[in-house]
Amino acid sequence: MSLEIRKFSMRDGRDIYEMLQEMPADENGFINPVSGKTFEEYQEWLKKAVESSNQAGVVDGWRVPETIFWLYEDGKPVGFGKIRHFLTDALCERGGNVGYAIRPGARNRGLGKRFLSLLIDEGHKLGVDRMLLTVQNKNKPSICIALANGGKIEKVTADRHYIWI
Ligand SMILES: CC(C)(COP(=O)(O)OP(=O)(O)OC[C@H]1O[C@@H](n2cnc3c(N)ncnc32)[C@H](O)[C@@H]1OP(=O)(O)O)[C@@H](O)C(=O)NCCC(=O)NCCS
Repeated sequence: MSLEIRKFSMRDGRDIYEMLQEMPADENGFINPVSGKTFEEYQEWLKKAVESSNQAGVVDGWRVPETIFWLYEDGKPVGFGKIRHFLTDALCERGGNVGYAIRPGARNRGLGKRFLSLLIDEGHKLGVDRMLLTVQNKNKPSICIALANGGKIEKVTADRHYIWI
């Protein structure tokens, strides 16, 4: 099995689009903005997302730049990850620096754990030395993966774990 992480680009094609159609719009707080969209809408989203990832400061007055990465297993896309370059107060409460999802049919084979490790490396390259994950308490696999990647729990509230890596 070969695993590879690739930064997104405006040239991403149908293989990514098809993966995104298999992922829900919102799963445990991880947002997939392309769920239910047409291929043309996906291409438009990619264009805007690439532009905003290249901005230095807050985008549109509230969004922070984020860079998207895909995980490929043997040449097939299996993961969607996002790294926010810095945090606002709101993102310290909800969202954090890193979010990721594995394609439903590819779960429970250790890919989530490997993907987070690769995303941490990419975060370092972007200058994100410490990353916050805000994980819903019910999301046991995600908590387990963050801890397996060296995460330290800062606090646990009624609905979330705040984990720093
Ligand atoms: C979270 C997610 C990425 C995990 O992906 P995955 O490829 O299935 O994860 P892995 O196979 O690497 O590991 C899952 C770990 O959770 C553990 N796990 C799974 N279900 C569990 C449960 N109910 N309770 C405790 N641990 C559980 C597994 O045993 C495994 O740990 P191990 O390697 O020590 O055995 C995937 O479920 C997903 O995409 N969810 C939707 C989006 C999401 O929740 N993203 C995270 C929040 S941003």
